[in-house]
Amino acid sequence: MSIKMRLLLSYIAMLIIPLILTFGVGVGIIKINVGSIQNIATIGETEKNLLSEGAKIFTDIKLTATKNPDQLKNMEYLRGMDQKLSIINTGIVVRQNNTVIYASNLFNGENITEYLPKVRHHQKDNHEEIHDPEFIGNHLYLIKQLDFHFRDGQSGSVFLLTSVGPIGQFAYKLMITMIIAFVLIIIFTNGILTYIVSRSIVKPLKSLKKAAEQIKEGNLNFVLESYPRDEIGELAGAFEGMRLQLKTSVEQQIQYENNRKELISSISHDLKTPITAIKGYVEGIMDGVADSQEKMERYIKTISLKANDLDELIDQLFLFSKLDLKKLPFNFEEIDLHAYLLDCAEEMEFDTGRSGVALQYHTEVKDPLMVIADREQLKRVIMNVVENAVKYMNRENGTIDIYLTASQTTATIKIKDNGQGIPRHLLPFIFDTFYRTDASRNSSTGGSGLGLAISKRIVEEHGGRIWVESIEGEGTSILFTLKRA
Ligand SMILES: Nc1ncnc2c1ncn2[C@@H]1O[C@H](COP(=O)(O)OP(=O)(O)OP(=O)(O)O)[C@@H](O)[C@H]1O
Ligand SMILES: [Mg+2]
Repeated sequence: MSIKMRLLLSYIAMLIIPLILTFGVGVGIIKINVGSIQNIATIGETEKNLLSEGAKIFTDIKLTATKNPDQLKNMEYLRGMDQKLSIINTGIVVRQNNTVIYASNLFNGENITEYLPKVRHHQKDNHEEIHDPEFIGNHLYLIKQLDFHFRDGQSGSVFLLTSVGPIGQFAYKLMITMIIAFVLIIIFTNGILTYIVSRSIVKPLKSLKKAAEQIKEGNLNFVLESYPRDEIGELAGAFEGMRLQLKTSVEQQIQYENNRKELISSISHDLKTPITAIKGYVEGIMDGVADSQEKMERYIKTISLKANDLDELIDQLFLFSKLDLKKLPFNFEEIDLHAYLLDCAEEMEFDTGRSGVALQYHTEVKDPLMVIADREQLKRVIMNVVENAVKYMNRENGTIDIYLTASQTTATIKIKDNGQGIPRHLLPFIFDTFYRTDASRNSSTGGSGLGLAISKRIVEEHGGRIWVESIEGEGTSILFTLKRA
């Protein structure tokens, strides 16, 4: 569930739960007090009579207040009224200006002035008012007020304070209890719901933070625990994606670093070998080991050969580095691949023939097959591959077959030999720089392992793809594609 939804639901719950609970509390209180409520109801009948009795007395007092207001200063009269009123649980209070001049002994000793409404400035005669119930001592009283003026013009008020019967008191107490219960329930539900909702948000956030700290410390191998399907879950998903991306890029970085180290070690090795040989022969000559003309010639020839090897290697390295830095300018043009391969094959046939390997070009393509390519670089690719086929040939009747096929968008050239083949597990590496299946890098076959790496870069620069198919002991095919014009 989404966080938005969860918040919405919790808001709704915060509204509904307190209402239901408060209602429940109310019903509970009423149920518990069911006995006393029934008692009250029976009392109610007698109370009704008393009330009408009260009304009569009040009319009496009103009449006195208009006709003979000073009578309301007469203690005798007041005491008599008080006696009548006490039957219906009502007390009488008379106030002259601000001073209470008579208070029923119903409120024995209570400072009644405090509970009475304030004196009005311009009070009208015969003004009647019923005030909110007020607790005096333990009893709740309904206060009825009547204003008048004494003969001498001073303002006076009569108050009848009727003790509200048990039902009234009960209702009043119930209301107060319910309000307190409602407030408490709201605080309680709010607290619980806030805790539940925030826990479901804060907990996954905390574990995300932990994961971020792991990444900061360079540990990318942990697995992020599963998260709820909400906004935080989405964030965690993005986070996991970032972790994987970081991990691959770090691994790639390490791989690059290793490649670079290997490259330097291979270059040093391949440069060192011919130089050591040259040094050896030069020292031999200086020490006079080459004592005959014939020996001398052999030494010099070897030195020249090694120097040439070195030169070639440096050229190769230079070419590779330019390709790697993408600094080799390509001269792309539209060429007819069919005609081009025909020429190439004719040219190479002679050289391979001298090494005892027969080279043949086959194709079903008859019309010109136009591709975009750099003639010189394409030649280099084909030469590298054919050179390998000759170099790694271990058969008397070696053959090299060049095939050209074409699809709508690409032309594919396949150069197949029937030489020693390449073990299956070494196939993924042969296009790597300096890779030679002969791990000892013994130079009897020569080569530095750059030929196929260079070819691959060139083909890729043409927007093509190069790959190998080989069966050990049967032969090897190198295939590559070029884009048709
Ligand atoms: N036709 C083939 N038959 C058998 N093995 C091959 C063939 N072509 C390539 N290889 C293997 O792949 C390796 C890489 O070839 P690549 O042309 O890159 O290097 P190289 O021939 O050793 O050196 P270079 O081409 O730089 O002189 C070779 O060392 C060889 O072990
Ligand atoms: Mg080679």
